[in-house]
Order: sequence, then C-alpha cells, then structure tokens
Amino acid sequence: MEPTAWPGVFRLGRDLYTVNATPGHRVYGEELRLERTTEYRRWDPFRSKLSALLAKAPRQLDLGPPSRLLYLGGAHGTTVSHLADLYPSAQLFVVEKSASAFPTLLEVARARSNLLPILADAQLPERYVADVGPVDLLYQDVAQRTQARIFVENASVLLKPGGRGLLMLKVRSVSQAAPARRVLLDACRELEAGGLRVVETVDLAPFARDHHAVILRA
Ligand SMILES: C[S@@+](CC[C@H](N)C(=O)[O-])C[C@H]1O[C@@H](n2cnc3c(N)ncnc32)[C@H](O)[C@@H]1O
Repeated sequence: MEPTAWPGVFRLGRDLYTVNATPGHRVYGEELRLERTTEYRRWDPFRSKLSALLAKAPRQLDLGPPSRLLYLGGAHGTTVSHLADLYPSAQLFVVEKSASAFPTLLEVARARSNLLPILADAQLPERYVADVGPVDLLYQDVAQRTQARIFVENASVLLKPGGRGLLMLKVRSVSQAAPARRVLLDACRELEAGGLRVVETVDLAPFARDHHAVILRA
C-alpha cells in the first residue's frame, strides 16, 4: 500500500483505499485489506464520484483536511464514509432529502462521531444554515436540474471566503438532449456569476458517464 499525493488516500496497483475508521465494518460491500496493523477500505471509483475524480488524476484538487465540510446529497453514505475516514478531526455535515436513504446514512454516522447527518432539502439552505455554520469545503452531488444554482445558493450562505468547492455535475439531470459540453459550460458560467472561481473540470468517464467534476474556489 503506497501513499498518494492526497493525504489519507492510498494506492495498491490501480485501486485506491482509505484507512478504515471502523475496522471490520464495510459500508457498501467494499473490499477490506489488512496490512500490518492497519485496515484499509477499497474506494470504488464506479460507486463514488470522488474516487472516480482521484482516479482521473486532477491537477488542482486540494484534499487537505478541512475543519468543517458540508456535503449535499449524502445518499446512503458511500462517499461520505470515505471522507469520514480521511478527516477524523473534521466536522462533516451531510444533507440528504430522501427519507428512504436517510436511515442508512444515520447508521453510517452512528459509528463515526465526525459525521452529522441532516434530513433536509439542499434547495432550502436557510433550513440548516444555523445548524451548520461557515464551512471550508462544500461538496455537492444531488442530481437535480438546478445543480449549479443549488451550489451557488449554499456557497453564498455557508462557504467561507477562499473556501473550496466540489460539484459533481450530472449532465443528464440538467438536460436529456443538450450536448454535455454545453451543459458543463452553462453550469460553469452560472457558478462564476454566483461569485465562484472554476479551477478545473474533469470528465468522470469511464467511471460515471455524462458526469463532470467541477473544482471550485470561493
Ligand atoms: C447520486 S446520489 C448521491 C451519491 C452520494 N453522493 C455518494 O457518492 O455516495 C444523489 C443523492 O442526492 C439526493 N438529493 C437529490 N436532491 C436533493 C436535494 N434537493 N437535497 C438533498 N438531497 C438531494 C438524492 O436523494 C440522492 O440520495
């Protein structure tokens, strides 16, 4: 197991791993690997867009530990659980609106004291802004038509000046018909009009088709 350029992320062959914060426990059926006294969890790029992004070797991604992170669209906690492995000392607030996914997310959080799930709609940040407070890193993966607007609205009330942003843009949630490049450019324009700086965009194929990671700065 070798360290990578990203703190807390390890590589074995082509596969990425994080150190399991809950040894002996899987979150989504991932492989566990014990080396000496440390247990690692395989981070599947087909199940997690953040792992897909790392596998595509972005040039300008800063994954250094934030003190507070807001994650919009936590679903069942797949990616969130790896972030919890990466950032044991951070507070990770996780917004998810699906009442059916939320119990699984709660179960993932029960074993990890750095995860704080919130059952809420990311289109209404005013409902959780007081509970969350300013964050250093805003991560969004919500598969909504208005993904860029949701990101801007959350960033404007919750992301600290100079803070980092990561938007996993699902092109086909925005438009079924428009060329992917056009949807990405429109989203970038909306993000920049909202006061964010687009640092880099990365196509997540072949791990996630018609998905682009947009790396941002406030
Ligand atoms: C693609 S899944 C997220 C997968 C997750 N990020 C991961 O990598 O493990 C999208 C999630 O966003 C949630 N979602 C969609 N719209 C939302 C909204 N307006 N507010 C909060 N969550 C939302 C969905 O319920 C779904 O669980």
